[in-house]
Amino acid sequence: MSLSRYSNFLRNYASRRLLTTSSARLSDDKLYVHRSKDPDVDKFTFTTENIKKAEEIVSIYPKGHQAGAIMPLLDLAQRQHDNWLPLAAMNYVADYLKVPRMRVYEVATFYTMYNRQPVGKFFVQVCTTTPCMLRGADDLYEHVKKICKDDELFTVIEVECLGACVNAPMMQINDDYYEDLSLEDATQVINDLKAGKKPKIGPSARSGRVNCEPKGGLTSLTSPPPGPGFKCRSDL
Ligand code: FES
Repeated sequence: MSLSRYSNFLRNYASRRLLTTSSARLSDDKLYVHRSKDPDVDKFTFTTENIKKAEEIVSIYPKGHQAGAIMPLLDLAQRQHDNWLPLAAMNYVADYLKVPRMRVYEVATFYTMYNRQPVGKFFVQVCTTTPCMLRGADDLYEHVKKICKDDELFTVIEVECLGACVNAPMMQINDDYYEDLSLEDATQVINDLKAGKKPKIGPSARSGRVNCEPKGGLTSLTSPPPGPGFKCRSDL
């Protein structure tokens, strides 16, 4: 089929079928830009201690595959810099690994674990993916946003699955997981943090269940397993 016939075919096809497209949406409330207004972060270098850590991390990767260390080095840089990555830090990591800067920007913009603007002391990530959503994550997210509103200690964002679906709904605050949460539990956690206390982490702190055992208690392996139901040849 010639090019003009092919484009005619496509035009006819589109006019016969109801083709719809969704409207463009911004994925973030705020649009991030790779620009820092803070002159103090025009430069970034690892501390002596972190240079040692970076060397150890890079040494794990086979020769020629050091680009694989982008994620752990970005994490290291972020931890060194109040839990956010200025452009200078991303560029530093790119130069450190000798990879094009765009490769680092691609990673830093894809994962919600990298913050490209300053965040509060407590970085709260509320999961709203399906298992958490089915257990009330939407309400939890709105609730947490409300109780943290106007408090600079907290930055609250909505994220995709954090891998604790069996203890849904849940939220991650800095490195800690708070699971099996009711709205009251979430309030308690946030209030504890506001008061300078360290809330208990994990599901058992709230629902009482151990790890991801069934909510109504164990349903199997509740007694020692019986022995084999047949006689061994040596017993005959
Ligand atoms: S769906 Fe929320 S942790 Fe997996």
